[in-house]
Formats: sequence, C-alpha cells, structure tokens
Amino acid sequence: MSNVHELAARSLKPSLLELTGISRVSVEAHYRLYQGYVAKRNEIVARLADVDHGSANQVYSDLRALKVDLSFAIGGIKNHEVYFEHLGGSGGDPTGSFRALVERDFGSVDAWRTDLRATGLAARGWAWTVYDWDERRLLNLIGDAQNTFPVWNATPLVALDVYEHAYFIDYQTDRGSYIDAFFENLDWDVVNGWVAAYAIPV
Ligand SMILES: [Fe+2]
Repeated sequence: MSNVHELAARSLKPSLLELTGISRVSVEAHYRLYQGYVAKRNEIVARLADVDHGSANQVYSDLRALKVDLSFAIGGIKNHEVYFEHLGGSGGDPTGSFRALVERDFGSVDAWRTDLRATGLAARGWAWTVYDWDERRLLNLIGDAQNTFPVWNATPLVALDVYEHAYFIDYQTDRGSYIDAFFENLDWDVVNGWVAAYAIPV
C-alpha cells in the first residue's frame, strides 16, 4: 500500500491574467513553472517511497539528492501559492489588520515598503514579509532560491518573486519597475484574510 500523497496544482485565478504592468504572457509562463514544481514534488515523493535507506551518504546518495531537491520543489510550491493568491487586487497602501501590523513593526507603510523593495533588489529569488511567531512581529526576509533562506516558525504574508522569470518578459533587467508593479497588484483583502485565518495577534 502506498503512502504517497499527491498534490494538485491550484488553478490560476482569472484576475491574474489582467494585472497592471505584469502581462498575461508573463503570468501564464510563470504559472507553468509553478505546475512544474508540483509535478516534480510528486515525482520526488514517489521516488522516496522506494529509496534505499541503507546507502544514505552525505557526499552523494539517492536519499540525499532526492531530499535536497524535495525542499526546492516544496519551496517552489509554497512560495508561488502565496504569490499568485495575493495578486489580482488593486494595490495601494495596505489596509486593515496587516496595515496595523506594518505600522506597529516598521513604523510606517513607507518604511515597510521601502525595506521590502530594497530586499527584493538585494535578493536572487524571493523577498518575504513574514510574521515571526517567536519574535511576535513582522520581518522582511530574503531568499536566493525556492529553498533558501526561510526561518522556522514564521508565516509568509507577502511573497515577492524576484526570479528573472517573474519579470524579464515585461521589464528585461529593470527589476525595480517590476517590483513597483507588484505592489500595485496586491490584494489586501487576501492578506488580511490570512492574518485572521492564522489568528495573528494584532
Ligand atoms: Fe516564480
């Protein structure tokens, strides 16, 4: 009997095809990459069901290779599910409970946005605004790949994809303009829904 649990890719919200400053062609190609992360995650999990535990080795082994790349595939799924879910809105300044958290922990909306934008420019893959349950505050964190460098016990509330696949079609190397467009498409109702669903204290 198999204990392999297959994941299915979430469908793409129609509003993602009508973003401001991020083209349909770009989003459709990006969504196909996300589907690829789901497929590879399922492939790796299936392979792990039959892996040889006796040959586990830190230099090279099937177990090591599969588990390292599983973290990349899972990261690719989780990062993109946040990214796609909270786009499709009208952007602008944060509202509601997320705004209250931002103002408390960063001092102002502008300070938060300036730091996240710069974090995105300094990253090779991702910039996140997370709620850290240990520090009990928001942090802007940096990631260079799908599986670097999330911290434990923190919940992503904003996920800014700065891999070149996210913007090269629309902006070539002008990542800053893409980041500005990203902010103009955030759906604050979605983010505030996560703050409520996770019961983050405001
Ligand atoms: Fe991406």
